[in-house]
Amino acid sequence: MRPGLFQICLLSTLSVGIVVAAAAPAKRKAWITVGDTAYHHIQALVPDAVSIDSRQFGVAGASEKVHAVVLDDSRLATVAGIIHDSLGQCGGFMHHASEAEARAALDWRPAALPARLYTISRREVVEPMLASMDEKRIESTIQTLSAFTNRYYASRTGVEASDWLQSTWRELAAGRADISVAQIAHKAYPQASVMLTIAGTDLAGEEIVVGAHLDSILSFRMSETARAPGADDDASGVASMTEALRAFIASGYRPRRTIHLIAYASEEVGLRGSQEIARQFKGTARKVVGVLQLDMTNYQGAANDIYLISDYTSGPQNAFLAELVGIYLPGLKVGYDKCGYACSDHASWTAQGYPASIPFESTLARDNPNIHTAKDTLANSGGSTRHALKFARLAAAYMVELSGE
Ligand code: BES
Ligand code: ZN
Repeated sequence: MRPGLFQICLLSTLSVGIVVAAAAPAKRKAWITVGDTAYHHIQALVPDAVSIDSRQFGVAGASEKVHAVVLDDSRLATVAGIIHDSLGQCGGFMHHASEAEARAALDWRPAALPARLYTISRREVVEPMLASMDEKRIESTIQTLSAFTNRYYASRTGVEASDWLQSTWRELAAGRADISVAQIAHKAYPQASVMLTIAGTDLAGEEIVVGAHLDSILSFRMSETARAPGADDDASGVASMTEALRAFIASGYRPRRTIHLIAYASEEVGLRGSQEIARQFKGTARKVVGVLQLDMTNYQGAANDIYLISDYTSGPQNAFLAELVGIYLPGLKVGYDKCGYACSDHASWTAQGYPASIPFESTLARDNPNIHTAKDTLANSGGSTRHALKFARLAAAYMVELSGE
């Protein structure tokens, strides 16, 4: 276990977990959804945390009963501690602003997806696109992002990193009237998420999201001026995504479905940016047919190249990704692992019923030991971006094949 995770757990608890029940002024209630194993640990120590509903969630390789639990909000920090101590997990539950929201999180069903969504039929577009992709540009993006003192959601340099990415994406999209770039402001803190949109041609109402998180953090002593380079976590994901974007634009290919690239603010403090965005999409009944999260792409810690995380993700979409690797990244080996908790922004989309996946750089047991420290630098990921390029290529193939037919 990395040092300092508990502090992060607490941080995320405090930042997103405190909700006030309008009808009960004396006692503030909180609602969470949590897996069955964690629920039993919580129940043993916090008996007033009770399951009000539950549902069996079955995704390939990871089926678990999930409970909607109501509790006194003063117990949230205790619950985070229990999950951390008994299961070695951090942030192992999702917070909900109301009972209705907690129940809705259990009630989601995957929306009907278009037929033929997962067909692979654009080799003539994808192959030259992947061949044109380059490690050096990924390296330069990682170096620029990790040169900001930190990219903390509440810091000045966290804001500057968001501004830098917006202008970088704008430059890449210059001259394309079908591509727009905008910041998505968040009311509670200064760092904005950044979203680039490539308008679909004839299926524009169906949307695809490729994302990574923009922010970085230190487990211990985070402050305005603390050094948190976050080169792997998650400048690597932003850089992989940006190189996929560059190649996609350079090819001149026009997608039938709309594609969004999103660099999320404030992932490290409880998936705050992505939760807000995914809720907003769901609230306006947007048809997102696929979400890909790139969080940590440049540290190869285990034998296989790309690990598909099988929990809080879509089994069918994971199978599609494995097929894309087989066809477009021959020679690369796919493995499977679990996070065991809502470990990154894909979980915010999963919670809203959208099919999401996260291809990961390593197994969790052999992941980058330097994340959330001042040592999360490119040099400490081996100094090259060979690994991150694989994820950039997978993202580009995904963007083309999922957005066509
Ligand atoms: N990139 C990490 C998640 C991660 C770390 C996945 C190591 C797999 C292996 C992410 O940025 C993160 O730190 N997430 C938090 C949880 C979040 C809800 C605050 C974490 O894992 O502590
Ligand atoms: Zn991360």
